[in-house]
Amino acid sequence: MTRALAIFIAIAAFLWASLPLRFDVRGPRLGIPALLAPGEHFTAELFLSHPGWRPALEARLERDGVAYPLELASDELSWNRLELEYRTPGEAPYGGYDLVLVDGSGTEHRRDRSVFLSPPPAHDLRLVQLADLPTFGGGGPDGFGEGPGDAEMRRIVREINLIRPDYVLISGDVAYVGGWFHYYKLHEHLLDLESPLICVLGNHEYKGLAGYLETMGAPRHIVDHGDLSFVSLNTGHGRDQLTASQFRWLVDSMEQRSDQRCVVQMHHPLFWKRNVFVRVDEMVELFDEHEVPIVLSGHWHADNVFDGTGTSRTDGPDFEGTKYVTTTAAGANLHPEQSTAFESYHGYRVFELHGGELGRYTYDGDADGLPDASSSHPAHRMLIEDLPDGGLRIKSGWTQDLIGATATVRADRELVPDRGQLLRRRARGSEVLHEVLIDVPAGSELVIRLVEEAQ
Ligand SMILES: [Fe+2]
Repeated sequence: MTRALAIFIAIAAFLWASLPLRFDVRGPRLGIPALLAPGEHFTAELFLSHPGWRPALEARLERDGVAYPLELASDELSWNRLELEYRTPGEAPYGGYDLVLVDGSGTEHRRDRSVFLSPPPAHDLRLVQLADLPTFGGGGPDGFGEGPGDAEMRRIVREINLIRPDYVLISGDVAYVGGWFHYYKLHEHLLDLESPLICVLGNHEYKGLAGYLETMGAPRHIVDHGDLSFVSLNTGHGRDQLTASQFRWLVDSMEQRSDQRCVVQMHHPLFWKRNVFVRVDEMVELFDEHEVPIVLSGHWHADNVFDGTGTSRTDGPDFEGTKYVTTTAAGANLHPEQSTAFESYHGYRVFELHGGELGRYTYDGDADGLPDASSSHPAHRMLIEDLPDGGLRIKSGWTQDLIGATATVRADRELVPDRGQLLRRRARGSEVLHEVLIDVPAGSELVIRLVEEAQ
């Protein structure tokens, strides 16, 4: 027995010493970002190939080619899991940063756009949610080339950047076929978003789970930012769509956040059909207890809104209690028979939070001046075009005004916009990006040009 133990220890020691030292940065990730103010701390989580090993790392944040070194505040090693707490530089400007960890051999481990420096969440917030995205790629070679879904997604990303929500939520079915190239393309598109992104998976991600996890991160998670918490549940695995262990985790997590404003997303809706079909009553009770304003889903490729009794509300968007909302597909095939919207189209949901209260969350599809019962905002009706002679043209096909849009106008030097308010300039390579705050009235067409500053 002693001899067997000695052999086992010898083999383990040999493996420990001979296998290459590796680690994986589990978080933060593109779809599970760290959201904090400059000068605050966040934690990076590493999984190590060798238990007890503490890699020597240098860490920095990077944005637009500018690097900001991170100061290690503390670290905690437990078996093969290492948590590194970093202090962000107080002077770094607001925006999304890559987290870059450099190991002793000089190799960079980069988590793109995984850290967002921003002020604490305001009382009034604007959010955009989308789900069931277009199918990316498909062109040669090997599918990595451009497909029609890529052009669609690029336009949607541009519209969302104009809307400039405080947060973007993606509620699953981000890639339908499971090939690696879909996730590669997804990643490329999402890096163009200006707002922080919080993403959860859908059923289709199980066809290429490794690709999803590598690109976006863990299946279920919570992203906290100040007094706001985004709870993302995994309903895509095809069993009972919310396991006992996940439900327990949800209850515990919500209890720890009793004073937080919580927004919940899960790919499958809670009611009617093709839904989550276990622990529904318990979940409704839990969301009710925590006064969750909105529970967001996709999966149906159709707009619909339910109350806590599971009744589809066609009488209007304003009613008491949590709103259970399914949002139309951003790019996948539409299912109008499951929709209670004025019209079926590809789109995304724009919604407002005022404190813990849900504000407007449906579109005015019939242009009667009132929000519809369930409609999302239509995609591809807000046209944004760079003009060949400089400047940017915006043509709104929306039935409602877009107040406080942020247009990005490019130039080769620092200029000023001829309309709207210059929010800030950012250098990216040889270009200067000018971010311009502007209102876009319903049905309007406007051009923003950059001009020399008056002396
Ligand atoms: Fe789905």
